[in-house]
Amino acid sequence: IKRDRIELEEGEAVPDRLEALENKEKLRDIVYEYRKPTLTKRADIAFEEDQLRKAGIDLTIDDRVSFIFGQTSGEEDHRPPPSDDIRDVRESLPISRYRDEIIQTIKDPRIPVVIVSAATGSGKTTQIPQFVYEAGIASASKRVACTQPRRVAAMSVAMRVDKEAHATNPGLPKLVSGYTIRFEDHTSDDTAIQFLTDGMLIRQMLSDPRLSSFSVLMIDEAHERTLQTDILFAMVKQLLLARNDPASPWYDPFTVVISSATLERLKFRDFFRMKLGDTTFEPPILEVPGRRFPVSIYYSVDPVRGYVPAAVLTILQVHFTQGPGDILVFLTGQEEIEDAQRQLREQHDTAVRNGLECAEEEMAEIIIVPLYASLPRAQQMDVFAPTPRHARKIVLSTNIAETSLTIDNIVYVVDSGYVKMKDFDEDTGAEALQIVPISKASAEQRAGRAGRVAPGHCFRLYTADAFKRELPESTKPEIQRTKLDSPLLMLKSIGIDNPFGTDLDFLDCPAPEQVRLAAGGLLTLGALQVSAVDTAAVMRRTMVTEMGKLVAQLPMEPAMGVALYAGQQHGCLREMLSVVAMLSADWDPFFKPRTKQGQREAATAHEGFVSQEGDHLTLLSLFNAWSSVPDAQRDQWCHDNFVHARAMQRAADIRVQLMNMLGSAEPVSCALGDGTIPAEPVLRALCQGFFMNTASYVGGPYRLVRPPLDVRVHPSSKFARPPPGGKMPGFVLFHQVVKTRCVYIKTVSKIEKAWVEDLLQRYGKIALDMM
Ligand code: CDP
Ligand code: MG
Repeated sequence: IKRDRIELEEGEAVPDRLEALENKEKLRDIVYEYRKPTLTKRADIAFEEDQLRKAGIDLTIDDRVSFIFGQTSGEEDHRPPPSDDIRDVRESLPISRYRDEIIQTIKDPRIPVVIVSAATGSGKTTQIPQFVYEAGIASASKRVACTQPRRVAAMSVAMRVDKEAHATNPGLPKLVSGYTIRFEDHTSDDTAIQFLTDGMLIRQMLSDPRLSSFSVLMIDEAHERTLQTDILFAMVKQLLLARNDPASPWYDPFTVVISSATLERLKFRDFFRMKLGDTTFEPPILEVPGRRFPVSIYYSVDPVRGYVPAAVLTILQVHFTQGPGDILVFLTGQEEIEDAQRQLREQHDTAVRNGLECAEEEMAEIIIVPLYASLPRAQQMDVFAPTPRHARKIVLSTNIAETSLTIDNIVYVVDSGYVKMKDFDEDTGAEALQIVPISKASAEQRAGRAGRVAPGHCFRLYTADAFKRELPESTKPEIQRTKLDSPLLMLKSIGIDNPFGTDLDFLDCPAPEQVRLAAGGLLTLGALQVSAVDTAAVMRRTMVTEMGKLVAQLPMEPAMGVALYAGQQHGCLREMLSVVAMLSADWDPFFKPRTKQGQREAATAHEGFVSQEGDHLTLLSLFNAWSSVPDAQRDQWCHDNFVHARAMQRAADIRVQLMNMLGSAEPVSCALGDGTIPAEPVLRALCQGFFMNTASYVGGPYRLVRPPLDVRVHPSSKFARPPPGGKMPGFVLFHQVVKTRCVYIKTVSKIEKAWVEDLLQRYGKIALDMM
């Protein structure tokens, strides 16, 4: 591979340099080299000795986290801040000056694709769909769709746009801007602007392959390169050729807007360079200059031992020693965020009780707001609510706030340097959720969040050296590091025979091994079947089975869909619906208090739900117990039983939707006359889908069936320890692999090896055949 080396000053904004490279072809091969940062003076935020003593702050790590000034980036902007009027705020966004240009381009029939590239917070997501609507290019019958990789972003932006649209024109119908995410549809016949996750738009193609209800499609946050975004690129390219060619029977022209932060735009342009009619089309790139104040970047002087306590201490240091401005903190997941929230609250209150005072007296109060994927709608409002005068807002977020959501008034950023993502574990080949270092590109984005309203400060909880040596330049696109069974089944169901081979064009192709793995899994599940053996290519051609078609309709991974289907056959669909809904809610329903006393009480309360067979049936018995409580008493019941009410409600909502999708008003149940539920049919049905997620006891750890890796049982499971007087089950089924310092299996149940043996053998044989 040809590699271009560009030397950058430490902290120099990468995108600016890229402009000079417009004509270089292979962007992805460029290696950025950062010069060693020139570290200058220490940042004066670390607590003084006497401050610490006075505050009585009790943290297990270093007494203070010191930072050293490393670099600065961005340029000055002295525009006056807009008034609070929503119309003024809209006008003041950088993108607003380009409104006419954007509309002209979208209206131009010769331009089916346009790339809009602008820094985060410029107004791409909230404004472009509104421009399109206001210009009359979209309506309730030909909507403008705007896809988002994350569901929180889809919801929150849709609500924001609805508010803005009504502020601009009070006569508009309700829900003129709506959203669709998995298991939730908030649109109406009046909706003209529809935000949806990229996955939901792909699903829409199952029922409307031409996407005929849309006139403009905006693929937003394209630089994130999620699996679904990449698939959307491939499908949209195909659809463009069909819908925008006057000779095609599908002729019904539409425009695609690719919107992204400044990264990767040249790659997108190359991808959409194509022959339309007799001419070669190349999408224009609309560049919207961002507006950013300088951000000073500070590195931790020493490596931090635990980034959660280090983040908490850094927040306190900033809060007590620095001037006004809200703080945005990047952590990795809900549990960690809730943990940090508790620590921060406790430490802060202790410090205040001990008489520690803020440098800025009038901001004595702190408002802590968490922000993560499954955050309920009501709480999202808190994130965007303006901070009252006397307070400082502290947002504890996953990387949602990195580019998807912009929170105003952030002046300080605390960056843990980590992100949680699904990845094939290089050592083991198993797919696991793991916490990994962010890329340099991400670190830049995170820092940039501090400079929107005033000169900002970014505190990196890693050393300058770690930044240079340990952070990768950029992240591999998800399509190259994930399981492909779900998209393979979906694309084949839409009628694309060989999607990852010759039939679709991708920005980056997955490895052949990934595709084989997915096909092997689907063949074993029975969602695909071999239709012919192509001897020339030594390849098996496959087709979707009847069951595969049903499973493809369900918005979940095929293994889960197959388990539901098997529930019907094992006479326990009613139970499987509840288990699958609880698993899909993806939210640990058991609340764990922080105090010892609280934990004891919670453990006692939870004991009543625990099944001897393991965690899947525990989820079922919890769901059944909750369902039998009358609506009005459920909140109290959850409180008394240390159960997250919202997690339960979400599972119940999902369950209703699944019933509707399956059209089964009275699902069969395996419950006995006295109401008890036998475990075997339920677990057997689960095994039909999740036979690969099994492990055998090897004394101490469990060994995965495939790949043969030793793992521990996650502490949240019943089988984390041997039952009193009993022994560990010999063979288990689990739902997830999670990797932190060691590899864990999560949501674990006892099963018989015999229940999965056939399937495993079949898989082994298929895998061999496909080699
Ligand atoms: O998409 P891009 O990053 O270019 O910007 P945006 O998300 O459209 O944000 C533009 C403005 O809308 C920012 O000032 C946000 O703070 C604001 N916004 C908001 O107030 N509430 C939301 N739910 C989303 C955005
Ligand atoms: Mg955006």
